[in-house]
Amino acid sequence: MKMKTLLVMFIGVFAIPESVTAHQCGRGWASFENNCYYFSTSTMNFKDAMISCYNRGSSLLVIRNSREDKWVDLQCRLRGYLNGVWLGFSDIQREGHMVAISDSRKPGYVNWIGGEPNNAVGKEHCAMYWTARRGWNDTQCSDRLHVVCTKK
Ligand code: BGC
Ligand code: CA
Repeated sequence: MKMKTLLVMFIGVFAIPESVTAHQCGRGWASFENNCYYFSTSTMNFKDAMISCYNRGSSLLVIRNSREDKWVDLQCRLRGYLNGVWLGFSDIQREGHMVAISDSRKPGYVNWIGGEPNNAVGKEHCAMYWTARRGWNDTQCSDRLHVVCTKK
């Protein structure tokens, strides 16, 4: 190969800004607004969902705005997630205080279904996105739901 060709290729690689290249998430991951998402094929309880995401170098989905909320809803429908997916929020430490499990902070954006979280039968301490109701609900952590993991 000619020296000039090599030089052009070398410069080319470094000249492409990251903003114009596709966000690289790796095989099996979807990309949306600079985040990477893994969608599970099976359902599991909240603890197993947390472990599953940690084992993939990621964490349980935390929806941060309405665009992400709508995108996740679309993905759930496309993938036939009839019930919904776990969200990385819990009030297991203090009932009624839903916080992110990653940093124990209150969510900046919420989309609770009207009347939720309601701690039904006093046993609901884990948050979920409920596909049919297009919003968030607290449910029993032992329920089995699909899982969405996120990483940068
Ligand atoms: C209630 C939810 C509850 C769910 C449990 C629904 O009927 O509206 O608050 O989490 O039942 O399956
Ligand atoms: Ca509930």
